[in-house]
Amino acid sequence: MRIAISTGGGDAPGLNAVIRAATLSALERGWSVMGIKRGYAGLLGEDEVIPLTRESVRGIGHLGGTILRTTNRGNPFSFPVQQADGSWREIDRSDEILENARNLGIEALISIGGDGSLAIAQRLVDKGMRIVGVPKTIDNDVAGTVTTFGFDTAVATAIEAIDKLQTTAESHDRVLVLEVMGREAGFIALHSGVAGSADVVLIPEIAWKLEHVCEAVMERDRRGRKFAIVVVAEGAKDEGGHVSLIGDSLPGQAPRIGGVAHNLAKAIQAKTGKECRAMVLGHLQRGGMPTGYDRLLATRFGGAAAQAVADGKWGHMVALQTPHIVTVPIREAIREPRRVDPSHDIVQTARRTGISFGDR
Ligand code: F6P
Repeated sequence: MRIAISTGGGDAPGLNAVIRAATLSALERGWSVMGIKRGYAGLLGEDEVIPLTRESVRGIGHLGGTILRTTNRGNPFSFPVQQADGSWREIDRSDEILENARNLGIEALISIGGDGSLAIAQRLVDKGMRIVGVPKTIDNDVAGTVTTFGFDTAVATAIEAIDKLQTTAESHDRVLVLEVMGREAGFIALHSGVAGSADVVLIPEIAWKLEHVCEAVMERDRRGRKFAIVVVAEGAKDEGGHVSLIGDSLPGQAPRIGGVAHNLAKAIQAKTGKECRAMVLGHLQRGGMPTGYDRLLATRFGGAAAQAVADGKWGHMVALQTPHIVTVPIREAIREPRRVDPSHDIVQTARRTGISFGDR
């Protein structure tokens, strides 16, 4: 049997560990393995398809990034093509994927990606392609699995940043606003904020008001704690719209989320008179070596994906349902993305230990 592996969407620490484990598990079964470069681009003639051997996956399990590269602009169902006049048009190139995979003798694909890549995988499965999914995202917002690899590493990076901001904030009696990733889901902000003992945590799932954030900061001030740490997810909505969530955008491109920290720091400073500083952690959260937890989870996912191929579990993705790795239908996993449940014990405990979510 010949299988292929692809990585799509934003990268996440642990991708290489999945590639390594899936490749070694496949080779051990006597299969051959191809790596499709840059999502599906390799199957569209826009990039390469390379053989994956023991040598090519040697020593990559602890490395960040992906040896197969990735892209979040590679949806074959709406592939962007530039026109003669310079404008862009999207065309459906999914049939080419199936045809090229057939021509290369690829009998099954392990597609490693987040909700977007998994939705593409499901559409290709519906067209007859034999695909097994592996859920990936630092945001932890894929349903059907207790967690995704990459999340633990992102949280560890955010906690390290909070720990460092705590000491400088205290020295200067300042409010430090840290923006972490999470366009739709606030898991990174919540987990890092609670573990790092932040004072305010703002997430997309709980609408917050500037006045409540400032009140939390000033209440602390009155108790003699002259500094504060505010952790804000990039997509956290400000009820009332006093703080713009829209950051810089390139000319001709849609304004993008990000930059909330700077706007929020300015707003808190104006309202409280306290000196504020902002920091956007950005892609540091996606880079670097995966934590031990993520390496192990990614390795288990890779091995389980090869097993799922052996079992013919097309249209399923591997998932952690503690303590086991199971397979679940991709269709079910992508039906509804996972979001922070405001009644979850982490939120409740956070509130009881003095963290404000800016909603009251
Ligand atoms: O992987 C998802 C994510 O981490 C989001 O939280 C964030 O908004 C996005 O990636 C950033 O993506 P890009 O690399 O395209 O800026």
